[in-house]
Amino acid sequence: MHVSLTLICRSLSTSDLFSLMLSRSALQSNRLLSTSKVLQKQVQNVTIIGAGLMGSGIAQVSAQSKLNVVLVDQNDAALQKATKGIHSSLARVAKKKFAEDAAAQNKFVEGTTKYIKTTTNINEGVKDADLVIEAIVENIDVKRKLFAELEKNVKSDAILTTNTSSLKLSDIGLNLKNKQNFGGLHFFNPVPMMKLLEVVRHAETSDDTFKTLNDYGKAIGKTTVACKDTPGFIVNRLLVPYMFEALRMVERGDATMEDVDIAMKLGAGYPMGPFELTDYVGLDTSKFIMDGWHKAYPNEPLFKPSDLLSKKVAEGKLGRKSGEGFYKYTK
Ligand code: 3HC
Repeated sequence: MHVSLTLICRSLSTSDLFSLMLSRSALQSNRLLSTSKVLQKQVQNVTIIGAGLMGSGIAQVSAQSKLNVVLVDQNDAALQKATKGIHSSLARVAKKKFAEDAAAQNKFVEGTTKYIKTTTNINEGVKDADLVIEAIVENIDVKRKLFAELEKNVKSDAILTTNTSSLKLSDIGLNLKNKQNFGGLHFFNPVPMMKLLEVVRHAETSDDTFKTLNDYGKAIGKTTVACKDTPGFIVNRLLVPYMFEALRMVERGDATMEDVDIAMKLGAGYPMGPFELTDYVGLDTSKFIMDGWHKAYPNEPLFKPSDLLSKKVAEGKLGRKSGEGFYKYTK
């Protein structure tokens, strides 16, 4: 098993250790191990780099599973905004979990936020991490630089991951010395609501790393699927071309965007139509993903950029976050 026994031992009592020894021998003989104690102890300290929407959501769900979280960003304003967002998202979760019980709701929110520390000092933030999740801007050079820095400051057995939605792991981790401890964890927006976690392995990710990442996913209540280091993994490889097909349909004048959205919600059972979803994901993000794929695979018709989308982005209409995309939004 990848994670060191010392890491596990540090936080366990004598009786826990005894069960742990039993569990380890059970594992060796391929028996038992249905309880999650050992697995859940594998990753106890999670550091998330980038306190945007995705980073905040990952911090929140990790804290909800009682993992120690450090959320890192460049400035206090970003961290304060993230803390506020996490608080209001937790309040929504609490309302559902403890309907009619304001005290329990409050306890849940306060109890969960206690697991989250924030810092602008990246070296300090990662030094105790068992798992680091990068959720910063989708820029290959910035990410490469970050990972090189991270590798110098983390524990030797820490696992480094990226939440990239479109870049190749082998490109991001190109300069890493220990590529075995590097993988991908791709979350979906809104992270607290979406049940899926794509666990991505590149050619050199070790089996132990991959297993630990799957165990982490399960420990935070997500269903995991195994992905290879291919463009868009599973979901975005299907979802993003679908969103662009919808754009092309409207560009050709075959249907209105309102009708396309209604059709996909009522005819295909999607929670949002493709234009609502593009607004939700961000027009700039969608454009960024497609432009990157088009550059890498210029002959793939499914990866063709959309003029309509590019025009909206140039006008600053980025979707919900800017107040307007394909639709207008009031806060
Ligand atoms: N935190 C906590 N709770 C939240 C939440 C959040 N951020 N967002 C929504 N919720 C809860 C609400 O409190 C509400 O709870 P209730 O049912 O008890 O009232 C419930 O979710 C439903 O929310 P709303 O009533 O506001 O709206 P909807 O019913 O439309 O649900 C949605 C919102 C869950 C976002 C749903 O529309 C949906 O699933 N949309 C599709 C989202 C999707 O496809 N995401 C993937 C995008 S692709 C991606 O992320 C990959 C990236 O790489 C690009």
